[in-house]
Amino acid sequence: MPEDVFTAPLKRPAHVGEDWLEPKQTEYDSEDDAIWNDLFARQMEILPGRAASAFMEGLDRLDLGTGGVPDFGDLSEALDKLTGWSVVPVPMLIPDHIFFWHLANRRFPAGNFIRTRETFDYIQEPDVFHDVFGHVPMLTNPVFADYMQEYGRAGFRAMEHNRLKALGALYWYTVEFGLIKEEAGLRAYGAGILSGPTEAVFSVEAKSPNRIMLNVDRVMRTDYVISDLQPTYFVIESFEDLYRKTVERDFERLYKSLSPSFTYANSAVIDVDNVVNVGTQEYLLRGGRGSGARPV
Ligand SMILES: [Fe+2]
Repeated sequence: MPEDVFTAPLKRPAHVGEDWLEPKQTEYDSEDDAIWNDLFARQMEILPGRAASAFMEGLDRLDLGTGGVPDFGDLSEALDKLTGWSVVPVPMLIPDHIFFWHLANRRFPAGNFIRTRETFDYIQEPDVFHDVFGHVPMLTNPVFADYMQEYGRAGFRAMEHNRLKALGALYWYTVEFGLIKEEAGLRAYGAGILSGPTEAVFSVEAKSPNRIMLNVDRVMRTDYVISDLQPTYFVIESFEDLYRKTVERDFERLYKSLSPSFTYANSAVIDVDNVVNVGTQEYLLRGGRGSGARPV
């Protein structure tokens, strides 16, 4: 990639190479391990019946649990046998093109630090709990694992066309905040939902948000919020369906038809939508997180 396509030229810490990988994983102390264990236990109270079956199966397969922060070497070995992915430590959010390059090579970059007790409920930067607990179980699913790799490959094309924002929206509404239709009802598979307690309930049960069947063209034109609960969730039929809808889409053509900014507000319901339910948006109307509104 030539220099001028970089969208977020972050300052690379001196101790990491051009791949932005940490030389080794942090050695966590017992307090760090206790934070992991408590976060894990809290999610396990909430996720059964709300998280996608594929996610719960992934958790089982990887034996993630209350044994403290997982060792990336062990985790990668287990994951490699299942889908050929590995987990690699990075110091912080990394530049887009490096992130895409790792995904395209089936490496998932995960934060090399864990939140503190003070930031137990909410952190802005993705830490090891968000990245490993939230994302890695889904990488045991062969179809989703392929989707993530394809996403990495698509990233390069999006950069060439200056449509990274649009591709970012697709990542946001699938990998981070996606819902799936299961026989028993809607379930969450997005890591942004599954790594915290509030949105795991809100996304599948609250009256406020819209839930709309995923349409790639529509989603890539839709704005998103990064610091509050989502006003809209997009629902897939299956991971095969997600894979087909994205990988078989002619992104080259799509990028040419997209405007540089988003067309739809994150709470909008539009004519072409295949709606599961229109939300009341009560949470948003009451001012959201900033005004302490209840996530109803
Ligand atoms: Fe994430």
